[in-house]
Amino acid sequence: MDLNHPQNNFNLQSQDFGKDFVFGVSTAAYQIEGAHNIHDKGASIWDHFTSKKGNIFNNHHGQIACDFYNKFEADILLMKSMNIKHFRFSLSWSRIIPNGTGDVSTTGIDYYNRVIDFCLECGITPWVTLYHWDLPQVLQNKGGWTNRAIVSWFENYVNVCATHFGDRVKNWMVLNEPMVFTGAGYFLGVHAPGNRGLKNFLPAIHHAVLCQASGGSILRALVDNAFIGTTFSCSQITPYRNTPRDVLAAKKADALLNRLFIEPSLGLGYPTEYVPVLNRIERYIQPEDVKNMIFDYDFIGVQNYTREMVTHSYFVPYLQAKIVKASKRHVKTTLMDWEVYPPSIYHMIKQFNAYKGVKKIIITENGAAFPDMVSSGQIHDTERLNYLQSHLRQVYKAKNDGLNVEGYFVWTFTDNFEWAEGYHPRFGLVYTDFKTQERIVKSSGKWYQGFLKN
Ligand code: GAL
Repeated sequence: MDLNHPQNNFNLQSQDFGKDFVFGVSTAAYQIEGAHNIHDKGASIWDHFTSKKGNIFNNHHGQIACDFYNKFEADILLMKSMNIKHFRFSLSWSRIIPNGTGDVSTTGIDYYNRVIDFCLECGITPWVTLYHWDLPQVLQNKGGWTNRAIVSWFENYVNVCATHFGDRVKNWMVLNEPMVFTGAGYFLGVHAPGNRGLKNFLPAIHHAVLCQASGGSILRALVDNAFIGTTFSCSQITPYRNTPRDVLAAKKADALLNRLFIEPSLGLGYPTEYVPVLNRIERYIQPEDVKNMIFDYDFIGVQNYTREMVTHSYFVPYLQAKIVKASKRHVKTTLMDWEVYPPSIYHMIKQFNAYKGVKKIIITENGAAFPDMVSSGQIHDTERLNYLQSHLRQVYKAKNDGLNVEGYFVWTFTDNFEWAEGYHPRFGLVYTDFKTQERIVKSSGKWYQGFLKN
């Protein structure tokens, strides 16, 4: 491929998607902000989890990350120069309410006011996620997502955010990928807070489902003209072999990974037919919950990176299904060992679009990590460029096929802290030199800039 003409076989422009289609970039507070203990900021579960040796690749942490806290003006100006008009970021709960509940931090509010105002000044629309995984540690000390009191803690937090920012922020997402923060954080123990087992996972699921709905209702009540969504991780699930056992295993994995959080919000309940162990959530359900799990979102944020192949396995408790790693399948992968499989995004748009209650879909994350090399001050990230273009083609196809997809956000703007993987996988359109905090726009970023022109 000619690196000077990276779009040579990609001829779509942003306007081909229609005038209401939004394009942007996505980020999350803990992954970019740094300033972990500035002023009265409280510690989050990610501050705590990263401080324990062995939890994160090379014991990396987000204490400085991209230093977005101090550099937000330069980063937002860079965004503007790249023609990016929509910026998704999250609010750090413990920066806003250091003790999780109670006093609100004036410096925390002031910081987000400055970020929001600067976006607006630059002609960039803010898209705010209320919760992108960084629970205040003080609340984790009381059980975190396993404690039913989280519903009122969270409602109070949403109230504070809606009241302070709702005059200028209209696009809101309640939770980021509840399946990942409950699964990785409260079942597998590989993400903060590092808890394991069904006794943590099941209550965390149910409380997240209640919060995702009540967060939406609070925003609806307090923010005029709000456009309210929540986001879900999802992957097309394919049976590894075309055998009845693998087909069943794939249905189970689909129920767990793709259906678990959206279906209760639509009034369909938990997908227990394929994952009977979910029946045990019953003990956490109170009578009024059945209606309180439902919320009528304006949009659903679909976050897709790959597909998964699934096979039957007697050894996996509760599910009898397991993922066959991409590295074992001899397919093209990213640095995360995720298969590059663009039709997955089309498939997931179609799957979500098929729910009667889903009004609109926005791709709130899609992107890829590849080993980037800086040579003569440039990064020719051809693989990422191809990844983004091939996924956008699928989104375009979905739209042309009449599926109601109205936006696409690249994960992510600058390379940042990639959770358990630390700084190793780079997902950015913009390269971050973590020693100097210098930014270099990669070829993919230059392409996006051209694509967004007009
Ligand atoms: C998502 C998550 C992001 C980002 C991305 C890439 O699951 O919401 O924070 O890390 O994956 O792995």
